[in-house]
Amino acid sequence: MKFSSIEVLPFLIFLILLPLAIADLNSDKQALLNFSAAVPHRRNLSWNPASPVCTSWLGITCTTDGTRVLALRLPGVGLVGTIPANTLGKLDALRVLSLRSNLLSGDLPSDITSLPSLHYLYLQHNNFSGDIPASLSPKLNVLDLSFNSFTGRIPQTIQNLTQLTGLSLQNNTLSGPIPDLNQTGLKHLNLSFNNLNGSIPSSLQKFSNSSFLGNSLLCGVPLKPCSLIIPPPPPNSAPPPVVPRKESSKKKLALGAIIAIAAGGFVLLFLLALVIVLCCLKKKDSGGARVLKGKATIGGRSEKPREEFGSGVQEPEKNKLVFFEGCSYNFDLEDLLRASAEVLGKGSYGTAYKAVLEEATTVVVKRLKEVVIGKREFEQQMETVGRVGQHPNVVPIRAYYYSKDEKLLVYDYISGGSLSALLHGNRGGGRTPLDWESRVKISLGVARGIAHIHSVGGPKFTHGNVKASNVLLSQDVDGCISDFGLTPLMNVPATPSRGAGYRAPEVIETRKHTHKSDVYSFGVLLLEMLTGKAPLQSPGRDDMVDLPRWVQSVVREEWTAEVFDVELMRYQNIEEEMVQMLQIAMTCVAKVPDMRPNMDEVVRMIEEIRQSDSENRPSSEENKSKDSNVQTP
Ligand SMILES: *[C@@H]1O[C@H](CO)[C@@H](O)[C@H](O)[C@H]1NC(C)=O
Ligand SMILES: *[C@@H]1O[C@H](CO)[C@@H](O)[C@H](O)[C@H]1NC(C)=O
Ligand SMILES: *[C@@H]1O[C@H](CO)[C@@H](O)[C@H](O)[C@H]1NC(C)=O
Ligand SMILES: *[C@@H]1O[C@H](CO)[C@@H](O)[C@H](O)[C@H]1NC(C)=O
Ligand SMILES: *[C@@H]1O[C@H](CO)[C@@H](O)[C@H](O)[C@H]1NC(C)=O
Ligand SMILES: *[C@@H]1O[C@H](CO)[C@@H](O)[C@H](O)[C@H]1NC(C)=O
Ligand SMILES: *[C@@H]1O[C@H](CO)[C@@H](O)[C@H](O)[C@H]1NC(C)=O
Ligand SMILES: *[C@@H]1O[C@H](CO)[C@@H](O)[C@H](O)[C@H]1NC(C)=O
Ligand SMILES: *[C@@H]1O[C@H](CO)[C@@H](O)[C@H](O)[C@H]1NC(C)=O
Repeated sequence: MKFSSIEVLPFLIFLILLPLAIADLNSDKQALLNFSAAVPHRRNLSWNPASPVCTSWLGITCTTDGTRVLALRLPGVGLVGTIPANTLGKLDALRVLSLRSNLLSGDLPSDITSLPSLHYLYLQHNNFSGDIPASLSPKLNVLDLSFNSFTGRIPQTIQNLTQLTGLSLQNNTLSGPIPDLNQTGLKHLNLSFNNLNGSIPSSLQKFSNSSFLGNSLLCGVPLKPCSLIIPPPPPNSAPPPVVPRKESSKKKLALGAIIAIAAGGFVLLFLLALVIVLCCLKKKDSGGARVLKGKATIGGRSEKPREEFGSGVQEPEKNKLVFFEGCSYNFDLEDLLRASAEVLGKGSYGTAYKAVLEEATTVVVKRLKEVVIGKREFEQQMETVGRVGQHPNVVPIRAYYYSKDEKLLVYDYISGGSLSALLHGNRGGGRTPLDWESRVKISLGVARGIAHIHSVGGPKFTHGNVKASNVLLSQDVDGCISDFGLTPLMNVPATPSRGAGYRAPEVIETRKHTHKSDVYSFGVLLLEMLTGKAPLQSPGRDDMVDLPRWVQSVVREEWTAEVFDVELMRYQNIEEEMVQMLQIAMTCVAKVPDMRPNMDEVVRMIEEIRQSDSENRPSSEENKSKDSNVQTP
C-alpha cells in the first residue's frame, strides 16, 4: 500500500518526497472539489478550498501524516444525481467509501469500484442503476450495494475478491446465476429480493435461507430442491489428467518422436475432452448415476494384482460399476480389478485398498464385509451418500459395485494421511508434531463436513462413524471426513468394537445413531486433538481411556493445563484458544443428547475462536492500519 510505505520511509527520503506527497493531497483535493461541484448536495459539506482538507472538511479521514485521503464518509447528506467518472475515482489511496442513504442514481462509475486500495464500499440505500461494474478492487472486504436499482448479472469477478467478508446485494433487480463464491472468509451474504435464477452454488449452501429470499427462480439448499431440468452446478474438481496407456513404458525417444507425440497428445487431449463432454451430457440425460460396462474377462493378459479385492465378482455380474456425479474418472470394472493394489488398512467395515489404475489415477477401494441389506436398499443408501459427498470437507464416493458376494466402494485417494496417524503415529520418533493452527483448521473442516452431511442428508442420515482414522488430510492440511453413511448397511451387533471410544452412551444402549450421537463422537475427536490421547488405546485391553470421563475428572480437579497434549506446550499464546476449544468439546460430549449443540452451532463456535483470535492479534502492518482507520461507515 502506498501510504503505509510512505509512512515507514526514513525522514530524509520523506523530505525529498514531500513535494510529491503534497501533490498527492492536492490531487485528492481537486478530485473532491470536482465531485462536490458535479453532485448537488443538501447539506453544507464545508469543503472550502482555502481550509485544510484533512481537518476541516466534512467526512474526510486522512493518513496520519496528512498526505492522502484515506476515507470518505458522507452518509445521508442529501447527495443527488449521478457521480461522474474521474472524480472520486481519482482518490487512489482511498480505503473506505461510504455514500449510503443518499439519492444518488445512474451508473456507478467503474473507476470507483476499482480503486486499488479500496477495502470498504458502502453505497446502500441509493438509487444506482445499470450493471455492477466488473472491475472490482481485489482488496475489497465489504461490498454493500443493497437497496439500489442495479440490474444485470452479479459480475463473475467477485470470485477474485479473496479478502471478501461481506457481500450485500439485496433489494436490487439483479438477474442470472449466482457466481460460485468460495471465499472461506465470507461471513455475511445477502442476495435477497432480486431476480436471480439457477441453483445456489455448494460453497454458499452454508448460509441460511434469509440470504436468498425473494428470488423465486433460485433453487437448491437452503431453498427448495432444484428440479431435474435445472443442470447441477459444475463439479468442483477438474478431471485428473489421464495418461494414455502404454505410452509410459517408452523411456528414451528421439526429439522428432517427442514432437510427434506432443502433437498426438494434443489431439488425444482434444478427443478426451470431447469424450468427457459427451459423457457428461449423457449422464445428465440418465439423471445422476451411470452404468459402465466391462467388456473383457478377468485374470487375463496383464500383470497379476498384488492384492485381490475382486474375487467375489461373478462373471455375469461384473459389468456393473455404478458411477456418481462428477464424471472425472473413466475406468471400468475391468480396469479396477486389474489395477495394482495395496492394503491401506483393515477397518471395522472391511478392508481398504489403494488402487493405482494409471499413472494419474489413484483411488481407494473399500471392500465391505457383513453387508446385511438387499440390493435395492443398498442402492438407495448409496444414492444419498453420493449426493451428500459434494463438499470440500467430505471425501466423495465416486462409484460402487454390488453383487451377492462382493460389495465395493470407490473413493478419491487423499494423500495427506489420517488425523489419527498424524496425532499418534510414531510419537517421540522423528515425526513433526501437528501444530495448533493445523489442529484448529482440521477440526473446523471436519465440523463443517459433518454439518454438511447432516443438512443435506436430512434428519435420519448420520455419519455414524466419526473418528480420527476417518479424518483424512487434504494437500493444504484441511480435514476431510470419510466413511459416512455406511452404518445402516452393516450388521451392527456383530462388531461391538466399531467406533468404540467414540460412541455416545445412548448408541451403546440403543444402537441407534442420530445427529446428536455424531456430535458426541466429534466432541471425543476434539478431546483427542486437544489431549493427544487416543480414546481407545487398543481394543480389549485395560488401558482403554474413556476420554470424556477422564477429561471431566481432570478438569473438575482444576488441573486444566494438565489435560493438554504436551506437544502443544511449545506454542505461545494458545492457552486461551485451547480452553475455549475444550469448552466446546465438553458441551459436545454431554451425556444427555438434547444438551449437546447441533453441528451448525459447533461450526459457529469454532469459527468464533478463530475470529476473536485474528482480532486480538494484529499480526501485520495491514491489520494495524485497518484497525486504526476503519470504523463502521
Ligand atoms: C477536475 O476538473 C477539472 C475541470 O473539469 C479538470 O481539469 C481536472 O483534471 C479535474 N481534476 C481531477 C483531479 O480530476
Ligand atoms: C458552509 O459552511 C461554511 C462554514 O462552515 C460557510 O462559510 C459557508 O458559507 C457555508 N456555505 C453555504 C453554501 O452555506
Ligand atoms: C430510481 O431510478 C429509476 C430509474 O433508473 C426510476 O425509475 C425510479 O423512479 C427511481 N426511484 C426513486 C425512488 O427515485
Ligand atoms: C478475475 O476473474 C475473471 C473471471 O471470473 C478472470 O477471467 C480473471 O482472469 C480474474 N482476474 C484476476 C486478476 O484474477
Ligand atoms: C426489500 O424488498 C422486499 C421485497 O420486495 C420488500 O418487502 C422490502 O420492503 C424491501 N425493503 C426495503 C427497505 O425497501
Ligand atoms: C475457488 O473457485 C475458483 C474458480 O471457481 C478456483 O480457481 C479456486 O481454486 C477456488 N478456491 C478454493 C479455495 O476452493
Ligand atoms: C436465468 O435467466 C437468464 C435471463 O436472465 C436466462 O438466460 C437463463 O437461461 C436462466 N437460467 C436458468 C437456469 O433458469
Ligand atoms: C427459512 O427457514 C426457516 C427455518 O430454517 C423456515 O421456518 C422458513 O419457512 C424458511 N423460509 C423460506 C422462505 O423458505
Ligand atoms: C437480507 O435482506 C432481507 C431484505 O432486506 C432481510 O429480510 C433478510 O433478513 C436479510 N438476511 C440477512 C442474512 O441479513
